[in-house]
Amino acid sequence: MLFFSLLLASSAHAVPVTHDSQVPIIPQDHSQGYKFDPLLHLPGISPYFDAIGFGLEHKAPDNCKVTSASYLIRHGAIYSNDAEYEEFIKPFLQKLEKNRKGWSGPLEFFGKWQSPVEEDKLEELTPSGAVDAEKVGKHLRERYPELAPNVRRVLADKKSRTYDTAKNMMKAFSETDSIEIVRVLKNETGAMEPLIPHKACDAFNKEPGKQEQSEFIETYAPSVSLRLEPFTPFELEPKDIVGMQMLCGYESAINGKRSEICGIFTDAEWMAYEYAWDLKYAYMVGPLNPLSPYLGFPWLQAQAHLFQHIQTHDTPGGGWPDDQRFFLSFTHREVPPFIATALGLFNSSSEAQEQFPTDHINWTRAWRMSDLIPFLGHVGMEKMTCERGALSGDGSGQFIRFIANTAPRPIPNCQSGPGASCPIETFNEIIGDGAKKHEDFHQVCDMKE
Ligand SMILES: *[C@@H]1O[C@H](CO)[C@@H](O)[C@H](O)[C@H]1NC(C)=O
Ligand SMILES: *[C@@H]1O[C@H](CO)[C@@H](O)[C@H](O)[C@H]1NC(C)=O
Ligand SMILES: *[C@@H]1O[C@H](CO)[C@@H](O)[C@H](O)[C@H]1NC(C)=O
Repeated sequence: MLFFSLLLASSAHAVPVTHDSQVPIIPQDHSQGYKFDPLLHLPGISPYFDAIGFGLEHKAPDNCKVTSASYLIRHGAIYSNDAEYEEFIKPFLQKLEKNRKGWSGPLEFFGKWQSPVEEDKLEELTPSGAVDAEKVGKHLRERYPELAPNVRRVLADKKSRTYDTAKNMMKAFSETDSIEIVRVLKNETGAMEPLIPHKACDAFNKEPGKQEQSEFIETYAPSVSLRLEPFTPFELEPKDIVGMQMLCGYESAINGKRSEICGIFTDAEWMAYEYAWDLKYAYMVGPLNPLSPYLGFPWLQAQAHLFQHIQTHDTPGGGWPDDQRFFLSFTHREVPPFIATALGLFNSSSEAQEQFPTDHINWTRAWRMSDLIPFLGHVGMEKMTCERGALSGDGSGQFIRFIANTAPRPIPNCQSGPGASCPIETFNEIIGDGAKKHEDFHQVCDMKE
């Protein structure tokens, strides 16, 4: 009905007399360009891409200026996560090695295909991961032209993948090696809990969600295996299906171009894969793990403190150069989701608790980690000074805005400022309340004997 009346409206105005933006688009045009891309649906293992978010403008709203920013960035592409490799990928590769004959149709290429995963460097940054890190660095430098030149110091942890990512990203900031990459090895300056809270927390482990995830894998993967059966020399087990789907992400991220494997699966099979991992992350690092907000608050609190004491830089990870206003820390995939959970950045707009049934996909969930933790995925926090400040127009004011993979994401409880940002007074209250509520980091984290 709507479709029909739009058509009528557009033919009635064949010669537009109204303002351009009011001319209805011919309805068919809307969907002609739609093309499904599996690389946008691989939580945790896809090459970096900008998230669409809610359509808020990326640059600061009119009359606002970003005066400081702090980013927490996941390392770039690695060959494979150890545990995922052992559980899903390696078993498939071993069967493949023994069965090179008998692949046909859409899977014929497996007769010759070679795994791009180098086993002796599994968790190291790949060459294409290094190139992407510099690209994202260039983007950040362009986004903050006034802040970027004063970056002198960034944080990484003890793993080579965070350090190497920092080093490559900083190539975009300075041609000389003048930027110090501080490796946070100890808690000395209090920098460890904000940067790698899960490693400072004995009670955290990666088990939650495993059981639920395998239940869901059992509901979708057997039918994929059945569909592919005519083309394979051996029966693909559910974990082989997951392993192959993972190889689409890893091979694309390692080689810097789309893997052939990405073409094997249907859109629906990709959406099932995506859900299997959103579900896992929800239990492990998201709203279904009661530890998550405890693990997200140290970074938020440290940055709020840093922004408040920007002159003295008296803050965890201290020792910042006087004129530095842009802070970058390099970490692992667990941490941006903790922060998103602590603030509700990926909450649905209803009050309902996120639900992750294991017998069907929850299509309307808001928790979509492909938009937060691709390689080089990041959460950023910006402090803005706005003339004609608040909506009421009562002078200038200061506001906080959060960014996830380039796109602004409002805090559900605080979005009254320009561009759905949060007035800094309210923000500090939220952080104060959260910090109080979650101050028992050690009580919940330290394991009792
Ligand atoms: C790390 O340092 C911070 C700040 O000095 C302190 O509050 C915290 O208890 C320390 N954590 C550990 C595990 O020592
Ligand atoms: C986000 O949703 C969770 C439940 O999934 C809820 O506990 C939390 O309070 C919500 N946060 C905000 C800021 O709305
Ligand atoms: C999906 O999750 C939402 C909360 O985000 C919940 O309200 C809804 O009932 C769930 N739907 C299904 C079909 O599981």
